[in-house]
Parts: sequence; C-alpha cells; structure tokens
Amino acid sequence: MTVSSKKLFIKTYGCQMNVYDTERMAEAMAPAGYVLTGDAGAADLIILNTCHIREKASEKIYSELGRLRRIKDLRRSEGGKTIICVAGCVAQAEGREIIARAPVVDLVVGPQSYHRLPDLVLRAGRDGRRLIDTDFPEDSKFAGLPERTVPRRAPSAFLTVQEGCDKFCTFCVVPYTRGVEYSRPVAEIVAEASRLADAGVREITLLGQNVNAYHGEGPDAESWSLAQLLTRLCAIDTLERLRYTTSHPRDMSDDLIAVHASEPKLMPYLHLPFQAGSDRILAAMNRKHSADDYLRLVERIREARPDIALSTDIIVGFPGETDDEFEATLELVREVTFAQAYSFKYSARPGTPAASLDSQLPAAVMTERLARLQELLNAQQMSFNKACTGTRLAVLFEKHGRRDGQLVGRSPYLQAVHASGPGTLIGNIIEVEIVAGGPNSLEADIISDTHLPLEAAAAL
Ligand code: 5AD
Ligand code: SF4
Repeated sequence: MTVSSKKLFIKTYGCQMNVYDTERMAEAMAPAGYVLTGDAGAADLIILNTCHIREKASEKIYSELGRLRRIKDLRRSEGGKTIICVAGCVAQAEGREIIARAPVVDLVVGPQSYHRLPDLVLRAGRDGRRLIDTDFPEDSKFAGLPERTVPRRAPSAFLTVQEGCDKFCTFCVVPYTRGVEYSRPVAEIVAEASRLADAGVREITLLGQNVNAYHGEGPDAESWSLAQLLTRLCAIDTLERLRYTTSHPRDMSDDLIAVHASEPKLMPYLHLPFQAGSDRILAAMNRKHSADDYLRLVERIREARPDIALSTDIIVGFPGETDDEFEATLELVREVTFAQAYSFKYSARPGTPAASLDSQLPAAVMTERLARLQELLNAQQMSFNKACTGTRLAVLFEKHGRRDGQLVGRSPYLQAVHASGPGTLIGNIIEVEIVAGGPNSLEADIISDTHLPLEAAAAL
C-alpha cells in the first residue's frame, strides 16, 4: 500500500530533550506519509514542541498560535486543512487551558504520549474533534516509537536515556511536566546507539533531565549506573565520542567520575548546574548540596580529568535572595572558573513551591544581578577560549559554515570551531591548530585532512 505524502512542520523550543523528541515525532509520523517541511504555510500538520521552564518560554507559544491561526485560515480559504498540535511541556502543564484559550489548536499531546501521535492525528483529522492526551501512560513511549532508521544522519546525535526528575527543586516545573524519573533499559539504548553509529554518527550525547541519576535495567537484569552504561557504549567501535547532560551534583558518583579518567571516548566536558552560591538559598531551592559540596566535587572531577571544561546553570533572584547571597554566587563562579554557563533570572512557575513565597524580588534587581553575573561568566568563557590559541585539538566537523568554504565543528570541550576546508571533512575528526579564540567560538587551521584515530585524538 502506498501512502500519499503529507507535510509536517515542527517548531522546537527549549532544551535538547525537545530536539530529540522532535526527531522522534517526525519518525513516528513518517509511516503515515508525513515528510518534514520548513514551510509552515504548506504543512498539513504543524507541531509546536514547547518549553515550560520559564514564563517567557511559555508565553511565546500563545503568540505563535496567533500566527498559526492566520496560516490555518489562509489554507482553509484555499481548500486545504491544517491540523495544529501543541506538544511538549506547555502541553503537559497547561493542556486544558490551551484548548480553552486557543481554538486554533486541534490536538494537545504531552511528552509521554508521542508514541500515540499517529493515532491522535488521524482521529483529530477524521472526527474534527479536539483531543488532549497528557497522561503518564503505563506503556513507555520509547517502546512504542518506531526504530530510528533515518539513513543519512548528522555526525552528532542526541539520545534520550532518562526522563523526568525526582529532585523537586522548589523553582522547577520539570518533576510536574516530565514526571518521575524513568530510565530506559540498557539494551534498548545500545541498540539505538549502534543504529546511529551504523548510519555514520560519530558522537552521541546522552540526554536526561537528571542523566547521572540513570538506573536502567542492564542485560544482567541488575540496575546499571550511568558509568556502566557509558562504559558499555564506549565498546561500540564506530562510535568515537560520548557526552551526557544534564547532571545533578548529588548524583555525581565515584564510578562516574572514574569513567572521565579511564575512557578516552568520553569528552572532557561536563554540564553541572549549581544554581546558587549561598547555602541558605540552596536549601530554600531544595538542592540538597552546599556551595562547599560543589567545590569539593569539582576538585575530585578535576583530579580525574584535569583538562575538563565545566559548564553550569545559575539562577539569580530566587525569592528572598539578598545582595550578600548573590555575592556568594559570584564568589563560587570565581572559585570554580567555568568554560561556559547558562544564567537566568528566576521566573515564578505556577504550581512550584517557590512561586508562592512572599519574598519575590523586583525585576530590576534581577536584571542588574544577571548583568553582573554574565559579565563575569563571559570573561571566564573568553579566557578559556583564548587559552586554546596555539594548541592542537581534535575537531569533529559537523556542517558547512555561513562563509563559502567554511566548516563548523566542535572541539572536545564543546567549543564551536570554524576552519576553511573541503566539505569531505564533514563527519570526520580532524587535527586542527587554533589560531584565535573569540567569545563564542574558535578559529582554526586544518593540520591534516585525514580522520584521526581514537588514540591520536586522545593524545592531542
Ligand atoms: N526560573 C529560572 N530558571 C529556571 N530554571 C529552571 N527553572 C527555572 C525557573 N523557575 C533553570 C535552571 C535549570 C535550567 C534548565 O533552567 O537553572 O538548570
Ligand atoms: Fe528541575 Fe533539574 Fe532540579 Fe530536577 S534537578 S527539579 S530538572 S532543576
């Protein structure tokens, strides 16, 4: 049976897990004849894969829905039909509100229900009824999704191994939108990673909201840690680089730190959010670690892998944060020194414990603190990048750059690297010399145009 081709447009907001989910939704819709388009106006199905982490991220969705209403009306006037679906974390958190507030929406699907998407789209199209599926079903969406079989892949891919979070930081919606922690079984992950590697993927980033709390079922029916999973994945010959994100300091176990010392395929980069530098604020955030715990942890990680590049997430202006407490955040940043960081103004999220505290801070205070913090973080990032000048690095080239003949890749430390070279180098790990370090990227000269074997890359 041949299925007629239909067009699918997906817009992705938020974190890397949404990027991964977007790919999986596209794959789930492919057997029903849907092919991806970059043109929303030509699409039969439009999916907004949304983010609920901060207020700004959620509000964007409603303005985008206004734009989609015009697209849908135009298409209808031409005799066409567009199904509009809101997926992701806003769908999970505000499903009923979306249906009530935005009549343009036909379908609301939470992140745990993507395996049901083809059936839901079919029903929404056929019955003209508006549907909502934001359950946390018993059956895992991963088991219900088709295999990742797209033949030609980018050299670097995401792979979600864990979802949800049991930590309940008091500012965060994730435990409510993504639910409790779930870890995929090792065999399922190894099969997916092997398929990706067979399709030419050289680097995989394992994803999870709390990835280092991973505890999936191993082939021996025991619970495996992230360290065990990484070691197993390193044994896939054609896979050359592994990364994982996002980690919680509390789950940074000794065996995981040891893998950073022993596995050359595990890249020397770690995203380890600390959120705030004051112990009082950390306790109010329910982070379950102190500033000193974090410092000592960083020390142990650097002992295992001295050149590791550290990245973090920081929130300024948590309710009740005093000037001195904010200074403690700056102090922790100065003590650790980050290669990169993400920093945010606190955003009160409905339903989270911190949102009902009386001591919410004025926006102007948060703006001023964020500017000071970002000045410090930018300076640290700049000096990390500048210090690379003159060194040789192994770069995985991923795509063409904006300039003619320019290639863009990633260093082991996750810096974007630009170099001039032939497109044939895309998908290869190449030795380069860094000639300049800028605020957000490195400029490099290519030293050799042959793919670096693992030992040679690790020795650079
Ligand atoms: N306000 C501001 N930032 C937040 N984050 C999570 N929730 C909030 C919030 N309510 C940040 C944290 C987290 C990152 C993904 O987003 O720093 O690590
Ligand atoms: Fe949110 Fe991360 Fe805290 Fe979990 S550990 S509640 S995802 S900030």
